[in-house]
Amino acid sequence: MQALGPDAAEAGGMRFRSLLFVPGDSARKLSKSVAVPADALILDLEDSVAPENKAAARERVADFLSEHSQPRQKQLWVRINSLDQPAALKDLAGIMHGRPDGIVQPKTRSPDDVVLLGQHLERFEKDLGFAIGSTRILPVSTETPAALFSLGDYVHCDQRLAGLTWGAEDLATAVGALSNKDRDGNWTSPFQLARSLCLFAAHAAEVAAIDTIYADFFDLEGLRASCDEARRDGFSGKLAIHPDQVVVINSAFTPSEEEINQARRIVDLFAANPGVAALSLDGVMLDIPHLKQARNILAMAADRDSGDR
Ligand code: COA
Ligand code: MG
Repeated sequence: MQALGPDAAEAGGMRFRSLLFVPGDSARKLSKSVAVPADALILDLEDSVAPENKAAARERVADFLSEHSQPRQKQLWVRINSLDQPAALKDLAGIMHGRPDGIVQPKTRSPDDVVLLGQHLERFEKDLGFAIGSTRILPVSTETPAALFSLGDYVHCDQRLAGLTWGAEDLATAVGALSNKDRDGNWTSPFQLARSLCLFAAHAAEVAAIDTIYADFFDLEGLRASCDEARRDGFSGKLAIHPDQVVVINSAFTPSEEEINQARRIVDLFAANPGVAALSLDGVMLDIPHLKQARNILAMAADRDSGDR
């Protein structure tokens, strides 16, 4: 059962099903990304940009943000370098005037890193005359081994926190793992643990849980299966690395007609039986968690309808 509440799935007033990474130094991919139906783009200044291209990428990303100024059709986020790198503050100085909707923060060591980034953002927001707190943060919360031991503390984190996502590649490198997947392509147990901890940490903090990338962008069937598993488990969206992945992700994280109809039946049944907390439908017991779940599905569907208009 998906436990995500309607508020928990929201990030800056919208739900993210798909967030597409676009290398910040690629004029071609930036221009291509405009027509991709992702809920958000993540303009990348970190690991998809070579060190010698970082400065040029900042300028390109800043220009892109300015060309697509607020209010935007889809949110524009920027992945900066990690706070332990001098590049991180250069990134913020280079792009904040373009008013990104949020910052994707890689390789967080603990929620303190998010608080620290929030303090930096506040200074930029003050200087630039933006509303304080308007720039949201999405940490990639499992990329360092230490990070796994403070995930529960996101509950007390900055109001800017829009969600939590996780990463398996940097974590594998950090621990010297030969692989993070088994022969069948499933996450090995250390990385399943990171995925699960991220999921529960996000729900504990009442923010969106966003699943990590599916690296094999040719394999759209495998992507669909991975999305279905993520939604089954309680993630509300997924990171994308290639435009072709976005439609698959959007569809997987949008309730189907069948789900919506069933949710309506459940809500109607409880409405028709005021004061009764346990009912039966089609021979199955339903109680309050099922009602909440049905309401969540209707809220997701309504949110999507209004987002599509
Ligand atoms: N954003 C926008 N456009 C993209 C894109 C992306 N992430 N990935 C590919 N495209 C474009 C390509 O430029 C190409 O358009 P074109 O034919 O007009 O040039 C089209 O989509 C098809 O791309 P394709 O040829 O299938 O892939 P590729 O070999 O050009 O690129 C990757 C493959 C993996 C290098 C590319 O998808 C990519 O850069 N992904 C993002 C990587 C990233 O940001 N990683 C960091 C997070 S893990
Ligand atoms: Mg990385």
